[in-house]
Amino acid sequence: MLEWRGATPALRAALVQEFALLEDGKRLIFVAFEAAQMVGTVQLVREHADSDLSKDAVYLQALEVHAAHRRQGIARLLIETLENQSRLEGARRVTLMVEPANTPALALYQRLGFTVFKTSTDTWDDKQYPVLCLEKPLT
Ligand SMILES: CC(C)(COP(=O)(O)OP(=O)(O)OC[C@H]1O[C@@H](n2cnc3c(N)ncnc32)[C@H](O)[C@@H]1OP(=O)(O)O)[C@@H](O)C(=O)NCCC(=O)NCCS
Repeated sequence: MLEWRGATPALRAALVQEFALLEDGKRLIFVAFEAAQMVGTVQLVREHADSDLSKDAVYLQALEVHAAHRRQGIARLLIETLENQSRLEGARRVTLMVEPANTPALALYQRLGFTVFKTSTDTWDDKQYPVLCLEKPLT
């Protein structure tokens, strides 16, 4: 995962922390494989500090599909799998944050039924970024 997601010090530290939280049961990490190669990943987060993002919800983060495997429906499959698990856990919505300039991700989320409900900021590598907060009700 570090090899193809880009092993910057900030990402390496974040991934180590994410796997520790996985072991604590605070999140699930889904991984898509194709011919034994890891081609995509997404995380289900059971707690989020922002109550608008966590109320009756699970939070989706760290979605990424290997650049050589995009537009094959892998992100859609990962998100549908996360949604199914969220329903089993009793969540009523899935929430996420995305940068406004990330047009591929925005197109994907809107195609899958997510809508923007507020703007906010997120912190990565000690810098703050404006983000859109999206939600999707789970029927
Ligand atoms: C965004 C990302 C996860 C999409 O993954 P993917 O596996 O290529 O997406 P899918 O094949 O499941 O796409 C499903 C639908 O989403 C939309 N979509 C996905 N990528 C798109 C793009 N680049 N441009 C326009 N629409 C896009 C399309 O409607 C697509 O259906 P179609 O291919 O039948 O037209 C991938 O581009 C990625 O890893 N980007 C870098 C990481 C990132 O930005 N993650 C999101 C952080 S919030």
